[in-house]
Amino acid sequence: MKDNDARHLPGPEYWCGEFRAGYDHSDLEASRDDWDKRSVNFVHKGRKEDYVEYFLKRLPLCEAESVFDMACGAGAVTIPLAKAGHPVIAVDFSQGMLDALLEYAAEEGVDALIQTHRRAWQDDLTDLPVADVAISSRSLILDDLADAIAKLESKARRLCVITLPGPDRKHMGEPRTSGYRIQTTAIVMNYLMSLGRLPKLDYIEYAHILHAGDPNDTRRRSTWCYIEWAPSKDRGRG
Ligand SMILES: C[S@@+](CC[C@H](N)C(=O)[O-])C[C@H]1O[C@@H](n2cnc3c(N)ncnc32)[C@H](O)[C@@H]1O
Repeated sequence: MKDNDARHLPGPEYWCGEFRAGYDHSDLEASRDDWDKRSVNFVHKGRKEDYVEYFLKRLPLCEAESVFDMACGAGAVTIPLAKAGHPVIAVDFSQGMLDALLEYAAEEGVDALIQTHRRAWQDDLTDLPVADVAISSRSLILDDLADAIAKLESKARRLCVITLPGPDRKHMGEPRTSGYRIQTTAIVMNYLMSLGRLPKLDYIEYAHILHAGDPNDTRRRSTWCYIEWAPSKDRGRG
């Protein structure tokens, strides 16, 4: 290895630019309206989701540790966490999602363990509480990677966890296409490492039935990338 090899590794700005380039720049208000509409079909009550089971199996929580759940949706992850005794700060920019989550929490008798806040990733989060662990499950939907990672780290005393869409096997090894989703994970891993973090990567893989009641029982394989890292002790902005 030549002496100067390491000098040519791209820094954090490069990876943030790559992340931004792959993002579909949609309007924040339009996106909020869209998620509000989708919240009607986002009811998780009594529904067993393999993704949630495998995600929670990987999440290394100690007893009663608190969780900051950013872009929590209708509570697919929030409610099982609260049922396991973890206080949760649940944040989402869609009131429809938060209403669905609160209804679900009341039915499960865990509302006392959950506090909700209507905020976007793009908002100031400094006044929100810090938790032991901060997560963003299936919800890193934004263009400013540096801002999102800084905000997540500012809400975590011990650990940060995100999940991102996993590799679309049909497109593995091809140059970048819209279907080549593993790029995003590679960019986020490189970004975190360029900051000096030591992220761990795992894959959540499962087969699920495409349509309920499908006589052919057609199954689709889904993959999510699970990334976990210890935040910087010098917690950034919120
Ligand atoms: C695919 S859902 C995931 C929900 C939940 N974390 C889960 O794993 O089931 C994405 C969530 O991100 C929220 N979201 C999208 N863009 C957001 C933004 N800019 N700020 C805050 N929340 C956002 C949506 O309202 C939605 O609830």
